[in-house]
Amino acid sequence: MDRRHKKTGKELNPETLALGYGYDPFLSEGAVKPPVFLTSTFQFRTAEEGQRYFELAYKLRPPRTSEAPGLIYSRLNNPNLEIFERRVAAWDGTDEGAVFASGMAAITTLVWALLKPGDVILSTQPIYGGTHYFFEHILPAFQITNRFVPATGDVSHALREAVREFGPERIRLVFIETPANPSNVLVDLSRAAEVVREVRVAGRNACHLAVDNTFLGPVFQKPAAFGADFVIYSATKFLGGHSDLIAGVVTGSSHAMEAVKLYRTILGTMANPFTGWLLLRSLETVSVRMRRQAKSAQKLALLLAEHPKVKRVYYPGLLAPGTAEHAIYEKQCTGPGSLIAFEVEGGVEGAQRVLNHFEIARLAVSLGGTESLVEHPMTMTHSDVPPDELARIGVSPGLIRMSVGLEHLTDLKRDLLSALEAL
Ligand SMILES: Cc1ncc(COP(=O)(O)O)c(C=O)c1O
Repeated sequence: MDRRHKKTGKELNPETLALGYGYDPFLSEGAVKPPVFLTSTFQFRTAEEGQRYFELAYKLRPPRTSEAPGLIYSRLNNPNLEIFERRVAAWDGTDEGAVFASGMAAITTLVWALLKPGDVILSTQPIYGGTHYFFEHILPAFQITNRFVPATGDVSHALREAVREFGPERIRLVFIETPANPSNVLVDLSRAAEVVREVRVAGRNACHLAVDNTFLGPVFQKPAAFGADFVIYSATKFLGGHSDLIAGVVTGSSHAMEAVKLYRTILGTMANPFTGWLLLRSLETVSVRMRRQAKSAQKLALLLAEHPKVKRVYYPGLLAPGTAEHAIYEKQCTGPGSLIAFEVEGGVEGAQRVLNHFEIARLAVSLGGTESLVEHPMTMTHSDVPPDELARIGVSPGLIRMSVGLEHLTDLKRDLLSALEAL
């Protein structure tokens, strides 16, 4: 299967591509589903073939017409990873993908591939805790500086201010997570992309825009269409979708992905073949799962918004038309996703009481799986964020984050209402 319908030349949709693109059954005994290629290494037919494959893999020469790279060793390439990478790139509207052992492996490998001592990252805050730790506590030892800008809609002014402070030559990466975790604040990607283009021109360098698309991608948000050079995922979440694997993904243009793939090979941060196979299985249903989860989440968010014991609900599906944030939502998102944050009365004690009374939603961190999960950001996922920063990013003592799963909506409503009765 090609990305286009052969007869009509029309582009196929990612839902269709997820079922057949990038895999030739007749290379695998006619198996309709790709087998698991549990092998560390691949046999060459001749010594000359092995030489050719290495020349192409290490870019020692350009490929000749119709010469395709071959399989060598599973740290460089493996069919389970390659098929998944083609399909996830099709979802993102990018050329290529690379799958990693975790979301953090994806983020760290991307940064090592792009930055060198003296360089600066501009990133939005709040950001996932592991990314925060890497940027703030590990990169400084390598003379790489991170500067946070608040994730508030149009970040272009704050980005330009930071560019003036450091000088455009030093800014190599703008890193955005939208919606932000856990407050669900949206960042305007096309306005950020404008600044990245200005930096490229003024600094005569290769500044890139990377977007962590874990919360809404690949179904409800396509950052590449708004100027992102790299789209990043914790594939542990919706892409994997069943809370049974840890993985990460980066997609982008073939040119941009060259360095990322090289660094993945050298650092050995790729996923294993079985994880690649699980991801292939999961990608077939990602659209169905995410749409159904979002439908339930929208209903639960409305229920929460009307509840007398709930002080505030953060959910993209509740944004008021006419506001700047709603305009960003309309421009860059095609659905609200299934993560809701809500603040209950009674601070930490109130939140913990509610959390202890869920029967169906599990009390666990992570998100995007088939089962609903609830957690307390202040004492769990965001517990290492300093108190003054917590207040700034909207993590109040009574805040609860819920990842809505595929359970029957009636049961989820009952579970939520009865947990709130504990207050
Ligand atoms: C938005 C976001 N990015 C990255 C990560 C890191 O992914 P992983 O846990 O797969 O390493 C997470 C994990 O929770 C996340 O929520």
